[in-house]
Amino acid sequence: MSSAERASSTPWANTHAQLAASGDEATADRQDLLDRYQQVRAASLAMTQGWSAEDMALQSMPDASPAKWHLAHTSWFFEALVLRTANPNYVARDERYFYLFNSYYEALGARHPRPQRGLLSRPDLAEVMAYRAHVDAAMADLLGATSPELLANLGDTIVLGLQHEMQHQELMVTDLLHAMSLNPLRPALWPELADAPIRPAICNEGDDLPRALGWISHGGGKVDVGHPGPGFAFDNETPRHTVWLQPFRIADRPVSCGDYLGFVRDSGYRRPDCWLSEAWATIQREGWQAPAYWVLCDDGEFDVFGPAGLTRLDPAAPVSQLSFFEADAYARWAGARLPTEFEWEAAAATSAAVPGDPSGDLATQQPAGQSAGLPGAGQVWEWTGSAYLPYPGFKPWAGAAGEYNGKFMLNQMVLRGGSWATPAAQKRIGYRNFFAPAARWQFSGLRLARDAE
Ligand SMILES: [Fe+2]
Repeated sequence: MSSAERASSTPWANTHAQLAASGDEATADRQDLLDRYQQVRAASLAMTQGWSAEDMALQSMPDASPAKWHLAHTSWFFEALVLRTANPNYVARDERYFYLFNSYYEALGARHPRPQRGLLSRPDLAEVMAYRAHVDAAMADLLGATSPELLANLGDTIVLGLQHEMQHQELMVTDLLHAMSLNPLRPALWPELADAPIRPAICNEGDDLPRALGWISHGGGKVDVGHPGPGFAFDNETPRHTVWLQPFRIADRPVSCGDYLGFVRDSGYRRPDCWLSEAWATIQREGWQAPAYWVLCDDGEFDVFGPAGLTRLDPAAPVSQLSFFEADAYARWAGARLPTEFEWEAAAATSAAVPGDPSGDLATQQPAGQSAGLPGAGQVWEWTGSAYLPYPGFKPWAGAAGEYNGKFMLNQMVLRGGSWATPAAQKRIGYRNFFAPAARWQFSGLRLARDAE
C-alpha cells in the first residue's frame, strides 16, 4: 500500500480531500463559501460515526474536552463571532450556550470552567446536534441573504470558523483517544484501521522496515519564512520575514517506533544525561518509561494503543504521543538535535535541498500549500526546538479573534507538519502548531537535525 493510500484511510478523508482541492479560501464567493461550510460541518459529524453518546461525553483530563463539547463549541464560534455580529435579530437556540461553550475568549465574557466540561451531561447529545442544526440553518440564511459588502467583511471570519472547526476535528480524535487509552478494554475508535496501519513514507515500497535514515543538506543563509500568501493562514504565521540559518542537515524521515525502541532499550528513560532538567524532573514525577500509549507486555515486547486499538509495536510506524521532553531527549541520545522551526520550514520549502532523496521530486510529490514538503511528513506532528514566539511585526487579529493565537505565546514549543488526523486542507508548510513541552496526547513525534559537518 502506498503512503497516499494509507493517508486516505481515515474515515473522513474524502471530505477533506474535497476541501483541499477547493481552492483559495480568501477569494471564496457566496456559494463556494456555503459549500465549504457544509463540507466542514459534515466532516465533523462523519468522524463521530461509530462513537456512542457515552464516548462523546468523556473528559479524561483538564486539557482534553468531550467530543460533544467540541461539536457544540465549534457551533458557538460561528454564533459568537459571525451570527451575533451580522444579524441583530438573530435568535439563539439557548442563550445559556453562550456561557457553556465559550472556550477562552475573555472579550466574550465568562465561561464554564474547562476542567468541568465532562460534567455537562445536559444538554445531551441530541440537543447538541439540534444546536448545530440551528446554527447551520442560520448560517445558510446569512450566506444567502447578506449583502456583498457585509459578506466581504464576514467572509474572513467565516473562513476562520471553518479552519477553527478543522482544528477541533483533530482534537476530537486525540482527546477521545486519550480517554480510550485509560479504559482497560482499550477500545478501538476505528477498528478498520487495523488493516491499514498508519505509516509515513519511510518504507521503501514492499518493505515492512523503515529505510535507513538519510540526511538532507541545506546550505543555510538568508531564508524567507512565514506565510507567503495568497490563501488562508493563521495570524501567528505572519508576517513573512527573513531569518539567517547556519548550514544544517535534517533527516529524510521522522523517527520511527523501531528507532525509538532503541532509546527505550538503551535505558534512555533512566539516563539523566539525555534529559533537560525540567524534562528529567517530569519523567521522575510522572513515572514515564516509554511513549504515552506504549504498553509493556509479559513477553517483554511493546504493544501500542492507537485508533485501531491495541496492536503490536510496528517498527516502521512513526513514533507518536511523545512530549517535547522525550523528543529532545531522544535527539540527544541519537547524537543529533531537534530542528528549529525555521530549519524545518526552509528544508520543506526547498525541494533543491533533497539531493538523492529516494522518494523522488518532493516539489511534485508534496506541493507547497497541500502538504508538508519533507519526505515522510504529515503523519505525525514534528516537535521543533523553537519556542512559540511572535514573528517580528506580528499583529494579532482585531477583536475577539485576536485571542486566537497570540496570548498563548509563552511556555510552548512549535510543532510542524501535521498528523494523519490533520485535515489535508490545513497542511501548510508554514503552519505553526504549539503545545506545552510536557503535552503528549497529540499525534506528536520528531525528526532529527544536525549542524552541517
Ligand atoms: Fe476553539
